[in-house]
Amino acid sequence: MSSTGITVRVPAKVNVRLAVGAARPDGFHDLANVFLAVSLHDEITVTPSDALRVTCSGPDAAQVPLDRTNLAARAAELLAARHGISPDVHIHIAKDIPVAGGMAGGSADGAGALLACDTLWKTGASREELLDICAELGSDVPFSLVGGAALGTGRGERLTPLEVGGTFHWVFAVADGGLSTPAVYGEFDRLTAGTDVPAPTASPALLEALRTGDAGALACSLANDLQPAALSLRPQLADTLAAGTAAGALAGLVSGSGPTTAFLAKDADTACAVADALIASGTCRTARVATSPAAGATHVRD
Ligand code: C5P
Repeated sequence: MSSTGITVRVPAKVNVRLAVGAARPDGFHDLANVFLAVSLHDEITVTPSDALRVTCSGPDAAQVPLDRTNLAARAAELLAARHGISPDVHIHIAKDIPVAGGMAGGSADGAGALLACDTLWKTGASREELLDICAELGSDVPFSLVGGAALGTGRGERLTPLEVGGTFHWVFAVADGGLSTPAVYGEFDRLTAGTDVPAPTASPALLEALRTGDAGALACSLANDLQPAALSLRPQLADTLAAGTAAGALAGLVSGSGPTTAFLAKDADTACAVADALIASGTCRTARVATSPAAGATHVRD
C-alpha cells in the first residue's frame, strides 16, 4: 500500500467439480461448483482521481477491456452508488492471471477493486454487503473475495467454505483466444436437450479428497459438466488434455467454461515437467504452474 493508494491481491481459481443442472427460468443454471483458489494473482491498486479510469499492466494487458465493462470499474460504481459517493478513482490492474477464460481473472479484478475501494473510501461495508455486490457483479466474483476452497450453489454465488488438508500442484494450459461463457452454457443446453439433467451435486469422494489433501483421490474425482460443451466448441482442447496427461499429469480437465485447461500433478517437479511438455507440444499458448489453496482478496502492505 502506498501513501495514497490501496492495493489488494486476488487469486485465480480452478473448478475441481462443476456440476451443472438444467437451465432455470432466468437463463442461469443451478450449480454445485467446487472452487479452489490457486496461487496466480492480480494486484489491484486504487488511488483517488478526478474521474473513474482503469489501466492495466502485464503480458496480457492488451486483452483487458479498460472501459465500464471491466468488472473492477463496475465494482467501484456499485459500491459508490450504494453509499451516495462519486466513483472517482484510478484502478490499476497488475495482471498476472492469464487472460484466457476459465480462471476467473475478470472476477478477481472485480473483487479486488471492491475491497480496495471500500478501504480507500472508508465505506465500511460489511462482509455481507461486499458479498452481495460481488454476486451482482457475477457468479464467480464472491469466491474471488473469499478464496480458499468452497462449494458454490445457486448460480455459484452462494458459498460454503470447504476444508483442504494439503497443497495441490496444478498446471494451467492457456489457450489462444477466449470462449464465451454464455456460448458454452448455450452449447451445454443444446447437448443436453431432451435429456433428464440431474440436480447438481458435489460427490462425497471429492470433498473427502480435498479434506485429506490426497492428490491421487482428487484426480479420480475431477469433473466438469461444461467440458463436453467446451470441447464441442473448441475440439482442439482435446489435444491439450491428451498432451498434459501423456506428460505425467494425474488428470486434466477444462477449467470452468474454458478454454483454459487444468492439470493436477503429484508434486511440484512433475508440475514443472508437465508445463514444459505442454509448451513444447504446441497445443497451447503457454502453461503456468500454481498451487492451491490460496487466500482470497487480501490487502498488500508496504
Ligand atoms: O454470472 P456471470 O456473469 O459470470 O455469468 C455469465 C453467463 O454465464 C450468464 O449470462 C449465463 O449465460 C451463464 N451462466 C449460467 N449459469 C450460471 C452461471 C453463468 O448460465 N450458474
